[in-house]
Amino acid sequence: MPTKAGLFIVFEGVEGSGKSTQSQALTQRLTDGGHDVLLTIEPGGTPTGLEVRKWVKTGQGITPLAELFLFSAARAALVETVISPALADGTTVICDRYIYSTVAYQGHGRGLDSDTIAELNETATMGVLPDLVVLLDLPPDHGFGRKSDNELDRIELENDDFHLRVRQGYLAQAREEPDRWLVLDASASQPNLSDSVWNRVSDMLAKT
Ligand code: TMP
Repeated sequence: MPTKAGLFIVFEGVEGSGKSTQSQALTQRLTDGGHDVLLTIEPGGTPTGLEVRKWVKTGQGITPLAELFLFSAARAALVETVISPALADGTTVICDRYIYSTVAYQGHGRGLDSDTIAELNETATMGVLPDLVVLLDLPPDHGFGRKSDNELDRIELENDDFHLRVRQGYLAQAREEPDRWLVLDASASQPNLSDSVWNRVSDMLAKT
């Protein structure tokens, strides 16, 4: 397993839950406090990831298994070339989505086999796991309310049941590892959410 000296924090949640706002807010607070921080995104934090992002959002005829491999390919490139080197340097890494999205969307949402997903996640990440996963929990219809219909992509256009299963998939993962997860009600105000995240992260920093 690669060495890991920096703190690794992941944000997860259904569409429109405010992950990017919160990951940017945390990045800003850490940077203001003098920390070296790297903010990245899945898929999209590498050239491979950017290509995958286009395919999964707008591609046609992509089967569930092909989709799983695409997300895994993006993750493998991101961990190997961005996340692992930064953590080894002592940089705090913040990532908007990680393996938990695959369990929620391709596992609970699409119904793909959980052992296959676990194996691919382990291979793609080389066993690099976050110190903290912040789940911005929101009923899916609330999240979609924040986007206009013509902004919705291939996965967002899945039916309500799919998105409800995704949400349940996240909550199930949070229950399995309560120490690693911070579950927040994403309908709270952005400043309140950002304070809750900061309280937890500053506790963690105090212990490093
Ligand atoms: P977003 O980050 O802008 O929300 O877009 C990423 C989309 O890809 C979102 O619909 C969730 C989906 N996704 C998966 O289905 N599986 C994954 O492993 C990841 C990282 C994202």
